[in-house]
Amino acid sequence: EAGATFLVVANRLSVDRVTGPEGEVSWRTAPGGLVTALEPVMRKRGGAWVGWHGAPDEVVEPFEHDGYEIKPVSLSAEEIEEYYEGFSNATLWPLFHDAVAFPEFHREWWDSYKLVNQRFADAAAEVAAEGATVWVQDYQLLLVPQLLRAARPDLRIGFFLHIPFPPVELYQQLPWRKELLEGMLGADLVGFQVPGGASNFLRLVRTRTSHKVDRDRVQVGGTHVCTAKAFPISIDTEGFRELAESPEVVAEAEALLTELGHPKVVFLGVDRLDYTKGLRQRVRAMGELFTEGKLDPEDVVFFQVATPSRERVDEYRRLRDDIDLLVGRINSEVGGVGRPPIVYRHSSFPRNTMAALYRIADVMLVTPLRDGMNLVAKEYIACHPSDRGALVLSEFAGAARELRQAYLVNPYDLNGMKDVFMKALNDTPAAKGRRMRSLRKQVNEHTINDWADSFLAALDSGGSRAPGNE
Ligand code: G6P
Repeated sequence: EAGATFLVVANRLSVDRVTGPEGEVSWRTAPGGLVTALEPVMRKRGGAWVGWHGAPDEVVEPFEHDGYEIKPVSLSAEEIEEYYEGFSNATLWPLFHDAVAFPEFHREWWDSYKLVNQRFADAAAEVAAEGATVWVQDYQLLLVPQLLRAARPDLRIGFFLHIPFPPVELYQQLPWRKELLEGMLGADLVGFQVPGGASNFLRLVRTRTSHKVDRDRVQVGGTHVCTAKAFPISIDTEGFRELAESPEVVAEAEALLTELGHPKVVFLGVDRLDYTKGLRQRVRAMGELFTEGKLDPEDVVFFQVATPSRERVDEYRRLRDDIDLLVGRINSEVGGVGRPPIVYRHSSFPRNTMAALYRIADVMLVTPLRDGMNLVAKEYIACHPSDRGALVLSEFAGAARELRQAYLVNPYDLNGMKDVFMKALNDTPAAKGRRMRSLRKQVNEHTINDWADSFLAALDSGGSRAPGNE
């Protein structure tokens, strides 16, 4: 009856429920950086994870998993269309990523978003013990902090946004801008990936609401103070390194090289198949380097993993077709009879295979048009064993603020990218070694535990309790 004293509330659970062809049910690690980051936090701390299990119309009972409680929230097929694919991923996702694709605004989507946010708030209110700490995650649940506070003023409420928070001028396009902002302000602490996100948010509150703002603290009505700050997220660095050094992964890396015909150079990309990731530009830049003869397809392979994502959203379908065409065209134009220059896999791979790929990648290409953080960049640094590796990183990824020693690129500048790809490949061993060591130091010293500890410590000390709840 006591309930959980620590809860994570996220659209997705750490595991997806999948039903096989014969109706057999299994669970699989859910895609994306949010799960990569939070799963080790929950394993360490215990508590409850409230989230959707990824299947339509199914009611799933709570269960234990890796030492924490899983509390599934159900979504109907229609809610998946309107709340998840619609409002979350065709309105908020593109708008918050600097509108690199056009955001769509539909009133029915908003109605569904409100309804589902209320359901998540109810589920959290039901599981949380008196005075518990509840940590709400990401853009799918912007209204939950306020809804939860209304139901349970005894709770300590944190919110973390995993994606960028846009400039005021973009945010203001939202017909429901006021409600969404008040939703977030229901938290005691709102965390962002980079200081720019926090300052966009605070500027919005200062210039478009009547709440009093004192530096990073917002006095929200008479009820509480909401603090807004940056907490750059990270990975389980140690866990990734150990995995990459394990005999299984070392063997798998060898096997991969053999399958690829022992190329001299491996370029690697690893992304969800998402238009924010800059795949069109990256593939074109690599294609030109092959067609112009700057890279020899006999020696060089570009391995691109594109994890299937949000496949029923139009913009994602278009992207999938575009990349299929582009890769097909390049591969049919360049190269001999053997392995194609671009090895493209539209599928998700187990963690071991990912670690093996990071091991064999000489140049890692992380070139999003816009990205809250990008944990693939950090995973590469944790997993790649040699000083000869190189990380190419977009200036528009949150990770670029910390990973200063990466080879930074503007993903919109194709010629600039081609130059940097070649420089990352051909730089002197001394220069590469310096960069890799400095990057490794950064990723070793800022782990996912440091992130969770610092957010939760700030949540514990900052702000103020609702009156009469001390
Ligand atoms: C990003 C978002 C997460 C999301 C993940 C995977 O990392 O910030 O909230 O879970 O992508 O996307 P999906 O729509 O499959 O949950």
